[in-house]
Amino acid sequence: MLSFQQDSLHGGIADPEMDSMRILSETALKFPDALSFSSGAPYDGNHDLGNLTYYVDRYIKHLRDKGVPEQRITRLLFQYGPVNGLIQDEVARMLKQDENIDVPAEAVMITHGFQEAALVALRGLFTSPDDVLLSVSPAYVGIRGAARMLDIPVRGILEGPDGLDPEAVAEAARAVRAEGRRPVALYLVPDFSNPSGTVLPLEARKRLLEVAAEEDLVILEDNPYGLFARDGEAMPTLKSLDTERRVAYLGSFAKSAFPGARLGYLVADQEVTDSTGATRTLAQSLSKAKAMFTVGSSTLSQAVIGGILVENGYDLRSAMRELAAVYLERLDATLEALAEHFPAGEDHGVTWNTPRGGFFLTLRVPFTADLAAMERSARDYRVSWAPMSMFYLEGGGHREMRLGFSNLAPEAIREGISRLARFIKETPRESSEAQA
Ligand SMILES: Cc1ncc(COP(=O)(O)O)c(C=O)c1O
Repeated sequence: MLSFQQDSLHGGIADPEMDSMRILSETALKFPDALSFSSGAPYDGNHDLGNLTYYVDRYIKHLRDKGVPEQRITRLLFQYGPVNGLIQDEVARMLKQDENIDVPAEAVMITHGFQEAALVALRGLFTSPDDVLLSVSPAYVGIRGAARMLDIPVRGILEGPDGLDPEAVAEAARAVRAEGRRPVALYLVPDFSNPSGTVLPLEARKRLLEVAAEEDLVILEDNPYGLFARDGEAMPTLKSLDTERRVAYLGSFAKSAFPGARLGYLVADQEVTDSTGATRTLAQSLSKAKAMFTVGSSTLSQAVIGGILVENGYDLRSAMRELAAVYLERLDATLEALAEHFPAGEDHGVTWNTPRGGFFLTLRVPFTADLAAMERSARDYRVSWAPMSMFYLEGGGHREMRLGFSNLAPEAIREGISRLARFIKETPRESSEAQA
């Protein structure tokens, strides 16, 4: 019988760093009565099965209203679709409306979530083993995993309380070049980052675009949480400030519609010239990579998302206001409960950041907050969280927890933070020298 040693397979399969999300969900399953701050699962109280068929019908009506013949509509939905998708027009209109991102439909590729957008972009841009991806650290596991599966080396750049320092990016790019390697792209989540919750200030956004031009970097801007800002507080995306086409924008409908649709998109309006001198957008050129990864994205999922966009006049931000209010209420409940249990001026050794939106915040505690501590917390105190060290690319974060509050109601949050406070207060402090 054919069998394998795991380490005879691709290195990414055995790499324990690729396992962090599985470990977190297994721990959650092992302690089912623990209140979980460990995931970033979207709130699912607003889902209604009837909406699925409603939005598909809405999209079909939209095609009919546009004068698309019935037979063509049938083909569009039942046949293999165009590789780059069916709903690029609708997504381009949404981007203009929601983010002031002005790109033609040809610059949009509909993908199997953010994840495929990242795989396609990385596959197209990285050509040699000496090409390096710069990434904010701590970082979302999806980007690290995508790079790992494609054998692309990643260099983490430590972020501060306000996200990435553009000068640190320039420095990292130069350091990589000094090693004889090529820094190709920079990955970051400027709005309510996962895992830390940081937001990049406007001045840093502008400077980052300059640094990208100076250091010849493509910026991979990942923005699944930007819609969940407080009214009037949304920041301009890097892509909307990008006059030099330095930014490839990676979008996801996982948080705004539903993760099961597995739909996202890549915006790549850079020009690509082929050997005949003909030009196309980068999104169009990369369709060869997409074709070989997934052939095309589900037409049914695209119909649902297309229907949502049409129904809401392409204004997803307004359509998400109620949902944004749910998340903001949860964020506020988390911050208030933390302030109640760890009052300012008391010597508890606990601090946290105060994001203005998103799904996550960072809690710093006076002991090692690793997986063993998390298990103890889940088993003995019935509250779970994610060790921040899992997300650091170059080590660090040993005394930090990621608290994801998106999928807990305010009452559960108050109870959860009260359990967490007991766990923290009853865990012996370690001296600062003991910190790795
Ligand atoms: C930073 C970041 N990017 C993207 C995503 C969504 O990815 P996908 O569209 O593949 O579900 C998530 C979800 O957790 C995320 O936190």
